[in-house]
Amino acid sequence: MSRHSPRHWLFVSALAGGLALGCTSEEVFPSADELELLQSLHSPTRTPPADPTNRYEGRPEAAVLGLRLFKDPLLSGCGTISCQSCHDGEGRTVDTPVAQGCFGHVTGRNPPTVINSAYSTWYMWDGRADRLWNQALLPLLSPVEMASSPAILRARLSEAYTAEYQGLFGKTPEAETDDDQLLANFGKVIAAYERTLVRNDAPFDQDVRRFLAAVDAGTQEKDPAYLGLKTFVRKGQCAACHKGPMLSDEQFHNIGVRDDTEGRRGVATGADPMLTWAFNSAGPYSDAPIGAESTRLQRLRSDLTSKAGELEGAYKTPSLRNVALTAPYMHLGEQKTLLDVVELYNKGGEPAGQFAGQVSVSIKPLELTDEEKHALVVLLESMTGAAP
Ligand code: HEC
Ligand code: HEC
Repeated sequence: MSRHSPRHWLFVSALAGGLALGCTSEEVFPSADELELLQSLHSPTRTPPADPTNRYEGRPEAAVLGLRLFKDPLLSGCGTISCQSCHDGEGRTVDTPVAQGCFGHVTGRNPPTVINSAYSTWYMWDGRADRLWNQALLPLLSPVEMASSPAILRARLSEAYTAEYQGLFGKTPEAETDDDQLLANFGKVIAAYERTLVRNDAPFDQDVRRFLAAVDAGTQEKDPAYLGLKTFVRKGQCAACHKGPMLSDEQFHNIGVRDDTEGRRGVATGADPMLTWAFNSAGPYSDAPIGAESTRLQRLRSDLTSKAGELEGAYKTPSLRNVALTAPYMHLGEQKTLLDVVELYNKGGEPAGQFAGQVSVSIKPLELTDEEKHALVVLLESMTGAAP
């Protein structure tokens, strides 16, 4: 007789008795490691962590100017597109897979939300920017987004914001003859505004706190969040990447999203120009002490070589906070609903060959039951915070 016989017997008798299956033959949830992971998931700080590379981020007058610039289409080369054109509404994004920029162009990827963006440290799906303020320069100058230039920026700032600009930077936009300095200042003001777009305190946080108390009391199996959290942490392996208070590890992974576009190699090619960019966080326009930011960039640079296989076709793990507000999903926006996302994970990503590289080791067919899929969707929906 094999040593598994007693479990088989339990399984059969549970079937015969019509009892719920699943708990009899596996370890109690959460294990010590899983408990630690669960404790990491809830209650982010009320304000995003400081960005030492932007000395204007905490200045209220910078945030006020930043909001005005965020909404101003006259900063664009076509005169009709502002940041808000693609980052609007409750979810601060569009509800289509891609968005329309200047002169009828469309973006190559799905716009993420700008809510809670100041909690992040890599930006764009492929890590093309490493701080919130330098991110803002990419859409401003991109020919398919705002199609602007330093000259257009200077002219518009002089026309409508001279006093505000001078108050912050000590000279008029006209007198700022260094194009790069002007661009960096623009980015820092925008970031000061974006930093105020915080939306946390979700039902999810209360659920996790209550669940942790139930674990202490030994009653967690009766908790309404039990199946969702267990599937998220154990069977789905979601918390391998979606962890910490923002439900993101701030790393890049290949999860097997169909992609035959030019940018399909993700961070493997996307981050390269950023590493030598004059506007990166270790460059001359950063307000951080010299050297302080370069460690992070050096680590990414060496990962791109030493972990080249893993980072091929890898994209940034997005925060799952407020995810119910930002359909459609993934970097190309090809998944319409949260259930579609769960189904994609359930099959272990798309078949090899439909995207660059190979899926991460945590991505494999999950064999979720309908009940578990539903519990995951409910859990994802609960991650939306109260409107500020
Ligand atoms: C035409 C549409 C469009 C416009 C205009 C636009 N964006 Fe975006 N935004 C996008 C898309 C698409 C992405 C993702 C691009 C990528 O990763 O390749 C994005 C990404 C971002 C991100 C990164 C979020 C993250 O978590 O990585 C931020 C922040 C952001 N935009 C802010 C801005 C700001 C500030 C402006 C104005 C200066 C702006 N956007 C203008 C479409 C737009
Ligand atoms: C190996 C790391 C990893 C694991 C495991 C993982 N994710 Fe993700 N998740 C990512 C990455 C990376 C993306 C973005 C991928 C892309 O667009 O190419 C993503 C995207 C998402 C999105 C879309 C968010 C948006 O704004 O578009 C949702 C929802 C999501 N994951 C939920 C889950 C759930 C639920 C599980 C468990 C079943 C899970 N993830 C497991 C890394 C992971």
